[in-house]
This record gives sequence, C-alpha cells and structure tokens, in this order.
Amino acid sequence: MRVLLVCLAGLLVCLQTADSHSLPQKDYETDSSKHDITIPLNDTSGNNSSSVPDNSSGNLDSNITTFIVRYVYRKDKKESMGIYAHKNGKIKKILEDGLAVSDWSPKSRTYLGNKDGIYVYDTETEKLEKYGNLSDSIIEIVKENRTDDLYILTEDHVVYKVTEEGTKKIKVNEAEHAEKIALDWDENLYYIGANNQPYIIASDGAKKIEGLPANPTSASISRPPITIEHGAWFMCEKQPYIIYPNATSEPYVFNDQEKLEYEKRNRAVEAIFLQVWNQTEE
Ligand SMILES: *[C@@H]1O[C@H](CO)[C@@H](O)[C@H](O)[C@H]1NC(C)=O
Ligand SMILES: *[C@@H]1O[C@H](CO)[C@@H](O)[C@H](O)[C@H]1NC(C)=O
Ligand SMILES: *[C@@H]1O[C@H](CO)[C@@H](O)[C@H](O)[C@H]1NC(C)=O
Ligand SMILES: *[C@@H]1O[C@H](CO)[C@@H](O)[C@H](O)[C@H]1NC(C)=O
Ligand SMILES: *[C@@H]1O[C@H](CO)[C@@H](O)[C@H](O)[C@H]1NC(C)=O
Ligand SMILES: *[C@@H]1O[C@H](CO)[C@@H](O)[C@H](O)[C@H]1NC(C)=O
Ligand SMILES: *[C@@H]1O[C@H](CO)[C@@H](O)[C@H](O)[C@H]1NC(C)=O
Ligand SMILES: *[C@@H]1O[C@H](CO)[C@@H](O)[C@H](O)[C@H]1NC(C)=O
Ligand SMILES: *[C@@H]1O[C@H](CO)[C@@H](O)[C@H](O)[C@H]1NC(C)=O
Repeated sequence: MRVLLVCLAGLLVCLQTADSHSLPQKDYETDSSKHDITIPLNDTSGNNSSSVPDNSSGNLDSNITTFIVRYVYRKDKKESMGIYAHKNGKIKKILEDGLAVSDWSPKSRTYLGNKDGIYVYDTETEKLEKYGNLSDSIIEIVKENRTDDLYILTEDHVVYKVTEEGTKKIKVNEAEHAEKIALDWDENLYYIGANNQPYIIASDGAKKIEGLPANPTSASISRPPITIEHGAWFMCEKQPYIIYPNATSEPYVFNDQEKLEYEKRNRAVEAIFLQVWNQTEE
C-alpha cells in the first residue's frame, strides 16, 4: 500500500494516511522531517519562534525552516530523493543523497547526513557546507544539546560518536545493528534494534527497555518534547511512550490541547509536503 508518512523529527506524531484520496498515486514513500520547530509542545525556552500560529490553515511560521526528506524504498532500503528546505513559502533542494536531519539545532545550524558524510546547513544564511572529513553513508544523525558532538547511524547500521568538528569518529560498540537512534535531554543515547525494540546505552552496555509491546510492526524513537525532562520518546503502533535511562517505560497520554497542537502541526507539514511534491513533479 502506498502511504504518506509524515514524521516530525523530534516531534511527537507520526501520521500515516493512505494516500489514495488525498494524494496522487505515487510509487514511493516520503518522510518529512521538521526542523527549527525543536519544541513540539509549549515553548518554554523563552522564544516564541517555534509556536504554531493559531490559524486553522495550519501554516507554520514562514520564517522557520522545515526540512523534508524524500526517499523511496528499493529492496527494503531507503534511497534518497533529496533533502528539501522550506522557508518563507519557498522550497529548495539542498542535498541530493541525504536521508538524515539532526533533530536539534540551536544556533540555526542543522546537521545533515548524506551518502558521503556530514553537512551543515545554516537556516539563516541558507548555506550548505561539508562538515568535517568523514565520508560514511549516513541514515540518521542526532546532536547533543550541551556539546557539538554528534551521533551518526551509518547505512550498515553502525553507530558512531562524532567529535572534534566532525573529524573524529568513535564506534559505539554497544549498539548492535541499530535501525534508529535518539538522544534525550540528558544526552543518553537510545537505539532501536533489528527487533523493533528500543535499547538504552548505559555505562555497562545496552539494556533493552522493558514494558513495551513484544512484536511491534513499526517503531520510532526521538528526542522528547522539552516539557519532558527525562527520557526519550518512543512511538510504537501509534502509541507514544516515554522510555527511561533505567530501562523502564510508560505510555504517554496526550491531553486535548496537545492533540490539537499536533493536528495543527501535522496539517502544516502535510501542506509543505504537498508543495514539495507539486514543485518537483515533472
Ligand atoms: C512571545 O511573543 C509575544 C508577542 O509576540 C510577547 O508578548 C511575549 O513576551 C513573547 N514571549 C516570550 C517568552 O518571548
Ligand atoms: C529566538 O530565536 C531567534 C531566531 O532563532 C534568535 O535570534 C533569538 O536569539 C531567540 N531568542 C531567545 C530569547 O532565545
Ligand atoms: C491566518 O490566516 C489568515 C487567512 O487565512 C491570514 O490572512 C493570516 O495571515 C494568517 N495568520 C498567520 C499568522 O499565519
Ligand atoms: C526571520 O528570522 C531572522 C533571524 O532570526 C530575522 O533576522 C528576520 O527578521 C526574520 N524575518 C521575519 C520576516 O520575521
Ligand atoms: C540544553 O543545553 C543548555 C546549555 O547547556 C542548557 O541550558 C539547557 O538546559 C539544555 N536543555 C535541556 C532541555 O536540557
Ligand atoms: C580528518 O581530519 C583529522 C584531523 O585533521 C585527521 O586526524 C583524520 O585522519 C582525518 N580523517 C579522515 C577520514 O580523513
Ligand atoms: C526509572 O526512572 C523513572 C524516571 O526517572 C522513574 O519514574 C522510575 O521510578 C524509575 N524506575 C525504577 C525501577 O527505578
Ligand atoms: C501551553 O501553555 C499555555 C499557557 O501557558 C497553557 O495554557 C497550556 O496548557 C500549555 N499547553 C501544554 C500542552 O502544556
Ligand atoms: C499544486 O499545483 C496545482 C496546480 O499547479 C495547484 O492548483 C495546487 O494548489 C498545488 N497544491 C499545493 C499543495 O501547492
């Protein structure tokens, strides 16, 4: 089945809608990663820039940059069709072979993972630059909040910590065949393994998070909203959970206000997504 998957990186909702009614038939899936909106719920950072305009059209603040990652599945592998940046109503393709957008970018610098290493995109100057000298093919990238260190997940499912301005990488041996990675606000690293189950990397090795469904068909992981101080966000068959560094978990229940906010955001991202689609249709 063809599906439109709207995923807000670092945000809370993955919306899956069958596209047959709302969208033209297309032989690919697309993932959209939102950026600059780093705070999915209430902005407690003292900055208003990430709040969703109270508008039923669901438009995002035009001055923020939204990243859209387009890809197709070929033989169960994601193949990039480019990373696009949307700002002030305009869309441009910024990378040809990228699949990864960092979920957290203070100082307007967003890290992107490409087939040939790491790039950094400045959302203010709209300039793209190669970052460091690594040349791995990257499928996920996350940034620590307190440092400039990154973690990357490569195409062969190995996790590395990247330090010294992108010039040094250290393999994270505890993460075995990672499918997805995420950090929480305390800089703990989590990953989803081949079994769709999340693990926390503790000082004494990787620990499986307990209290979650046994055989989920889908799972995603991300930095939690800023209102959640500890733990990471885990989404499993449309049910969100907070997973903790002590390897426990609990389901998260949206309140009405949150539901509303997510719906708005999803509409906004979907609108941008359609625009990308429209503009890139040959
Ligand atoms: C948010 O913006 C409003 C008006 O645009 C302003 O009155 C308010 O002080 C701002 N809040 C913060 C926390 O910056
Ligand atoms: C709010 O965001 C703008 C643009 O990202 C930034 O220039 C400004 O310093 C931020 N203000 C605060 C109080 O964080
Ligand atoms: C809200 O929508 C109205 C009409 O659809 C538009 O004129 C207005 O600029 C929008 N406001 C914002 C903040 O997007
Ligand atoms: C957009 O953001 C930049 C940087 O934060 C700021 O300098 C500029 O004035 C903003 N533009 C609008 C239209 O709000
Ligand atoms: C992110 O890092 C800054 C700077 O160290 C810190 O002040 C802030 O509390 C951190 N944010 C969170 C949510 O932990
Ligand atoms: C990247 O640069 C660092 C420092 O200049 C150097 O030590 C390292 O060998 C380089 N790595 C690669 C993969 O070229
Ligand atoms: C694990 O950590 C969470 C969040 O800090 C806490 O609420 C919970 O009680 C802890 N559980 C155990 C078994 O330590
Ligand atoms: C966001 O902040 C407003 C006002 O401070 C509050 O009424 C609302 O409940 C908050 N929403 C969430 C989801 O925390
Ligand atoms: C897509 O393009 C068509 C025709 O060019 C236009 O009518 C429609 O509004 C566009 N849709 C979006 C979401 O931009």
